[in-house]
Amino acid sequence: MLWIKNGRLVDPKSQTDRVCDICIERDRIAGIFSPGGADQKHREEDRMIDAQGLVVAPGMIDVHVHFREPGFTYKEDIETGAAAAAAGGYTTVICMANTKPVVDNEETLSYLRERAKDMPVHVLNTAAITKGFKGEELTDMIGLKALGAVGFTDDGVPIKDTAIVMEAMKMAKALNVPLSFHEEDPALIGSFGVNQGPVSAAVGVEGAPAVAEDVLVARDCALALSTGAEIDIQHISSGTSVAIVRAMKALGKNIHAEATPQHFSLTEEAVLEKGTLARVNPPLRTEADRLAIIEGLKDDTIDYIATDHAPHSREEKEKDMKSAPSGMIGLETALALGITHLVKPGHLSLSHFLEKLTVNPAALYHLDAGHVAVGGKADLVIFSEDETWTVGESFKSKASNSPFIGDTLQGKVKFTICDGKIVYSDGKF
Ligand code: NCD
Ligand code: ZN
Repeated sequence: MLWIKNGRLVDPKSQTDRVCDICIERDRIAGIFSPGGADQKHREEDRMIDAQGLVVAPGMIDVHVHFREPGFTYKEDIETGAAAAAAGGYTTVICMANTKPVVDNEETLSYLRERAKDMPVHVLNTAAITKGFKGEELTDMIGLKALGAVGFTDDGVPIKDTAIVMEAMKMAKALNVPLSFHEEDPALIGSFGVNQGPVSAAVGVEGAPAVAEDVLVARDCALALSTGAEIDIQHISSGTSVAIVRAMKALGKNIHAEATPQHFSLTEEAVLEKGTLARVNPPLRTEADRLAIIEGLKDDTIDYIATDHAPHSREEKEKDMKSAPSGMIGLETALALGITHLVKPGHLSLSHFLEKLTVNPAALYHLDAGHVAVGGKADLVIFSEDETWTVGESFKSKASNSPFIGDTLQGKVKFTICDGKIVYSDGKF
């Protein structure tokens, strides 16, 4: 058995926030006791983690990662992606389908389900909404769901044809699976990855305006209201989009949205300082947008914090602003960015912040995860809320394309436990 002694258990689902001792047997939580329980009940052969002064929370769930397998394993593969997740405090991640080939067929999905088996954390897969991400014809959503796809998305490529989105939503509703959407209408975009305005002008690209996101957010929320499908508006970056989602959510509870640490921590100014490392789709925008995202997190317009962990190689990111790919890694810095930029300044309580990384994403994807209960799964993160550290250049991820390198952040993962096993510890154990 494994004991976690004297930790502050913060479990948003049960609204628990108290110091206790937790006992884990195999892959389950066998007991939660008042402090002192571990000393009384533990046996000689049990392992013990001293969590005095640390927070114990449900293992985090990321609804949006790119693990690049198959096709782009020079950027990341499932092993390195899963190791990065464990180091970040995540025990469940949901992979996007923009691999090569895209996950639009049974063979690719079966391969990925097989690969996920021996990983330190739970690696789940979405499949594509449209064949080849072309936005023309739906995939065999019934067959792909039966093979284990937990949801569907063409993330990375917005779907232009409204009728196709409508058809996909009707199918998703019938199958009781969520759809997630990358909202940027290419018709309104000069170039991807940098907000259109003074910053795009300064770096010599045409840029992507917020309105390109807003129009598709409005369209897809309207379609979700009409069809009843559960949808997730991905990586919301525009303040107007936050307002649209807020208004639409008042009309239907099947509309959800995610925000990334980069969009609540940074503004477009980062592009001037960090270059292509800050190029991301949708782009980092203005301070007003950033504050609107924080408001959206506070009033639960935004349900999830998702990393959009998007690894790229050094060579790719060393290209100029026009040709470097968009995206940044995020798994290993998300918890600290949230604590530093949301919890410590008083925008969200620790429990409210963790809600968006645990119980809320578990509900969207119908997962038995994201809470701590006797008899439940032993998927946990143990972290210090106060310890400061400086983001270095070496990551468990194969990639290091992070604009946060060099930043000093508060909040440090100490242990990640998945299925009752310690899959990450920041020191010797
Ligand atoms: C993502 C990637 O690299 O796969 N990049 C990004 O900038 N977010 C794709 C995407 O979601 O656009
Ligand atoms: Zn995307």
